[in-house]
Amino acid sequence: MTEEQNLIQWVYSSKNEQELGERYDQWASSYEKDLIGDFGWYGPPSSVTAAAKYVPKDSRILDAGAGTGLVGQLLNEHGYHNLVAMDLSEGMLDQARKKNVYGEFQQMVMGESLGFPTDSFDAALSVGVLTVGHAPASSLNELVRVVRPGGHIIFTLRPDLYEDGGFKEVQTALESEGKWKLVEMGDPMQALPKGEPDVLHQVWVYEVTS
Ligand SMILES: C[S@@+](CC[C@H](N)C(=O)[O-])C[C@H]1O[C@@H](n2cnc3c(N)ncnc32)[C@H](O)[C@@H]1O
Repeated sequence: MTEEQNLIQWVYSSKNEQELGERYDQWASSYEKDLIGDFGWYGPPSSVTAAAKYVPKDSRILDAGAGTGLVGQLLNEHGYHNLVAMDLSEGMLDQARKKNVYGEFQQMVMGESLGFPTDSFDAALSVGVLTVGHAPASSLNELVRVVRPGGHIIFTLRPDLYEDGGFKEVQTALESEGKWKLVEMGDPMQALPKGEPDVLHQVWVYEVTS
């Protein structure tokens, strides 16, 4: 196993949210160098490119699992300026603050109830967060609640977790309950070509319908 894979396995293998938050706090200052420079993290550009097709520029957007703010930085470059960063890790949010692209920062845990009012966002992005040992499939229910009808939810997901991580069940239930409809499902891609070349990720785009 390479050093890069060790770091990824180290966060994946956290025993609980507290340990996961502490590990991200520790990783925060070198996260971008490791994830972009050394691993080739492609989640943010692929997700923001998909979002830009559907989300109007004046939208209020939740970056759920914002980390150090890579997604917010790209959204800002695409002309989005009403951005809220939310993450489990204060250390990651501290890095995101330095980007000067978010208007608000919230430390919250996906998988629990989010402290945002219903229909309070026009869109939500969650990139690299709905994954092994991180935010569970049930997090999607809360993203649907806080995004208004007609708004969009964009997230990355591994095809193997779609089947085995409970996502298929939650996503299908939201569809059959008329809460959202699928707009776009990207092709499986190597989102971490140097860190996890064998692991594929897909970008999903849903429109909230009720
Ligand atoms: C791989 S990083 C992705 C960060 C950023 N979205 C990006 O693309 O660079 C995963 C982030 O999700 C956060 N995270 C993990 N589980 C979470 C949860 N249950 N609730 C909120 N944030 C979580 C971590 O603290 C970390 O900042």
